Amino acid sequence: MKKNGLYLQLISIHGLIRGHSLELGRDADTGGQTKYVVELAKVLATHEDVAQVDLITRLIRDKNISSDYSKPIEEISDGARIVRIQCGGRKYLRKELLWPHLEEFIDKTIKFITSQERPPDIFHGHYADAGYVAMQLAAAFDTPFFFTGHSMGKNKLAKLLADGMKKNEIIRQYKIKTRIDTEETLIEKADMIITSTQQEIDNQYGLYANGAAGKYTVIPPGIELDAFYPYYDSQLDIDLLSEEAKQTKITLRNELHRFWPNPEKPFVLAVCRPDHRKNITGLIEAYGMDKELQAIANLAIFAGIRQDINSMEDNERAVLTDMLLQMDRYDLYGKLAIPKKHDFATEVPTLYRMCAQSHGVFINPALVEPFGLTLIEASACGLPIVATNDGGPVDIIKNCESGLLVDVGQPEAISGALKEILIEQSLWDTLSNNGINGVRKHYSWSTHCKDTIEQYSRLLPEQQVDSSKSNLQQNIRPSFGKRLTSIRKLLITDIDNTLIGDDDSLYQLLDLLDEHRSDLAWGVATGRSLELTLEAMTEYNIPMPDILICSVGTEMYYGPDLRMDKGWQQHISNKWKPELIKETLEQFDFLVFQEAEGQRSHKISYYLENTDDRLEQVQQSLNERKLRCNVIYSHNQFLDILPSRASKGKAVSYLRFKYDFLPRFVMVAGDSGNDADMLQGNTRGLIVGNYSEELAYLKDAARVYFSQGKYAAGIIEGLRHYGLL
Ligand code: GLC
Ligand code: MG
Repeated sequence: MKKNGLYLQLISIHGLIRGHSLELGRDADTGGQTKYVVELAKVLATHEDVAQVDLITRLIRDKNISSDYSKPIEEISDGARIVRIQCGGRKYLRKELLWPHLEEFIDKTIKFITSQERPPDIFHGHYADAGYVAMQLAAAFDTPFFFTGHSMGKNKLAKLLADGMKKNEIIRQYKIKTRIDTEETLIEKADMIITSTQQEIDNQYGLYANGAAGKYTVIPPGIELDAFYPYYDSQLDIDLLSEEAKQTKITLRNELHRFWPNPEKPFVLAVCRPDHRKNITGLIEAYGMDKELQAIANLAIFAGIRQDINSMEDNERAVLTDMLLQMDRYDLYGKLAIPKKHDFATEVPTLYRMCAQSHGVFINPALVEPFGLTLIEASACGLPIVATNDGGPVDIIKNCESGLLVDVGQPEAISGALKEILIEQSLWDTLSNNGINGVRKHYSWSTHCKDTIEQYSRLLPEQQVDSSKSNLQQNIRPSFGKRLTSIRKLLITDIDNTLIGDDDSLYQLLDLLDEHRSDLAWGVATGRSLELTLEAMTEYNIPMPDILICSVGTEMYYGPDLRMDKGWQQHISNKWKPELIKETLEQFDFLVFQEAEGQRSHKISYYLENTDDRLEQVQQSLNERKLRCNVIYSHNQFLDILPSRASKGKAVSYLRFKYDFLPRFVMVAGDSGNDADMLQGNTRGLIVGNYSEELAYLKDAARVYFSQGKYAAGIIEGLRHYGLL
């Protein structure tokens, strides 16, 4: 990685993403967004202010799809790579099924970041799922985060309802509620939301409760200018055209000439899907009612790939049937061409240029047009445009001045605008040139890149660029993620009877921890709930540690703002059935339920005086009902029942894994039975001099040191013993 410059992480989790030959359209999740993020990653990496771009996506190893998607790292260009993170198994999953696995994705991305030279400066999430991941990572590393929705749940819900689908079914199949709730949060929390148009802000984000509070910037995506070059280039450089391009041109010309006895006239062109929302009928009506327009120009409508009208979907069939009926009604034989097939990728740019060469006009008659990609493409080729005075076209015309906006609901408005451009040669020339220049200025990838970097940079603290401020920076407490990924040594200590018990040595220890804070992180691991932990810290005036492992390892928080580790909670929820456990243990009169603070979402606690074989009875009854859980007894009075994946020791292992601490640089300190499993991990264990008898059996255990000193004095002794101080 270059030393100076921005380290950017773009996140786009679903779909099939790779650096070459994207399988666009293979399924609903592999489309425009996947193409966009790959292009974006590549172009951002070319910017001089950028050191590195990672495009983070899901790793998939599935025999039904290419093994390309299982490579953990794929370099896609100089300074840009795809980083694949596994979550929710390895099979390909549609995006709606990924929600439950995002915490795992976040944990593993943090782990990946830990292995890098430095954490990213910016996270940018694409679509709600990755937006959520970006938000969590940004909190961990204290960076800004960007969100690009690509499409929004509320619009999808409205569309599905309009199509007649039942709300319950939509919620079940599309997890639309989770998506919309997440989007609400993202709109509120994102440092910046990038949209392609103003229309998106008004009509999509605008539908959300937090819509008005969001921070937005419109940055339209770039188009591939190589494909959409101006019409005059192909005229001048006819020899340079590839054979394939020439053949495409001839095919298109022959096809059109079949319809037109006077093919030398200019023609008006429309290209769209056969969808009634595209208002093709409105266009034919406008043309059909205006004899003057018919005399000046032919009309060509390319409405999707048409095979057999009978086998089409209802909407498409209705549109095409209407077109044929209208052709008849207005007697447009010899004037209106409705060619059968077209191949969008290769034919459309040629078609725009042919139309421009005829001095024609491109029209998009749709009543609502959120973006209007075809208008940008046509303009890029130098073909003047006419479109609806609403949504995306308004932005395009404002930027490029390459055509006229009309009320497409009125046929005379359409034909009037078309005639104006067709008749006034100088207007045609101006619009054509404006389009060619305007698109290159506003809709090129390099413009998109420049504007995006500008937005990123605006949100970064100045210190990043100015190293003379580094003294000041040391006093600013970095986020827990940045701190934990940069520190090698870690102390985790129990509170009661380990950290606290002797005030003198406690303050001596706290001073030492402060002195060594730049290379030693520390945390507590306690049976206490978060509230009781904070109570103890206030009482003893203990500064906020880096990590709080509470309720016997079932909850984990990071200081200073006590952010809960949701990945951990999700991980331990596996097979946790608290209601069944309580029900099973009801039979034992000798178990006394602890007060409310003792009961947590992932911890059930009792008082128990362990005489006879009471503990065994408890364990046995749980085994009989196959309730998998972790039973921990301490101080001869506390009985804690935890999920089988939870304990203080397991919480410490999880931390070690996530932030990549080596076992020999981690010391755990304790005094009683609920510390036993963390003392026996492969980290370094320390048992204070005042330990309770239940730990005596560890005397011979490997990697456990029994200190002479009691309480915090014992911790200091241990830290010195293991060379951590
Ligand atoms: C703390 C907790 C209690 C738990 C005990 C042992 O005292 O408040 O709920 O049972 O530690 O882990
Ligand atoms: Mg203790």
